[in-house]
Amino acid sequence: MTSAEVQQFGVLSELFAEAIAFRRPASIAILGIAGGNGLDWIDSKMTGRVVGLDVNPLYLDAVRSRFSHLSGLELHCINLAEQLVELPPVELVHAALVFEHAGTGLCLDNAVSLVANKGALSIVLQLPTTAGQNVGRTGFASIQRLASHFSLIDPMQLRETLAERSFQLAFESRRSLPADKEFWMGIFVRK
Ligand SMILES: C[S@@+](CC[C@H](N)C(=O)[O-])C[C@H]1O[C@@H](n2cnc3c(N)ncnc32)[C@H](O)[C@@H]1O
Repeated sequence: MTSAEVQQFGVLSELFAEAIAFRRPASIAILGIAGGNGLDWIDSKMTGRVVGLDVNPLYLDAVRSRFSHLSGLELHCINLAEQLVELPPVELVHAALVFEHAGTGLCLDNAVSLVANKGALSIVLQLPTTAGQNVGRTGFASIQRLASHFSLIDPMQLRETLAERSFQLAFESRRSLPADKEFWMGIFVRK
């Protein structure tokens, strides 16, 4: 792994910790859990149910072996862009760099449906680089169902889409990375 990748994982992990500190959830779902980056922040005394979802079964196997000690760990192999999630809701849904892969069609519906009443949805998006793309809306793909490649999502447009579903932005932060890369995290709460 390159040092830039290590740094990126570190930043994603810290953003996950911020989302946990914001909501202090008794239950949490991680969309696109990958290898379980940041799961060490979960305190089993506070969070008794941890739901991990990913399309890649090998990632889920890795999480199962690394984090079997986490209480209430449930892992589900699912394509969030194509299959409906039918699980009891949780107090915090965290989705970091997932919508860029899975689009904001059914994947966003799934995220919203997993959020319990008074729950929160934390979303991490990659922003366009100032060098390569416009920072304005033209740098983003439109919010629509996308194929499984990586397409940037406009935080402002996502915010508008979520407002229509009664989710209000309660917290946001930005983190810079090498090579002009930048992440944005928004935490939305159900109004
Ligand atoms: C960039 S990684 C996520 C990084 C991770 N959330 C973190 O904080 O380090 C994207 C993850 O989303 C998963 N993914 C991509 N498309 C998906 C889909 N349609 N349904 C479910 N998971 C998907 C990938 O397998 C991968 O594990």
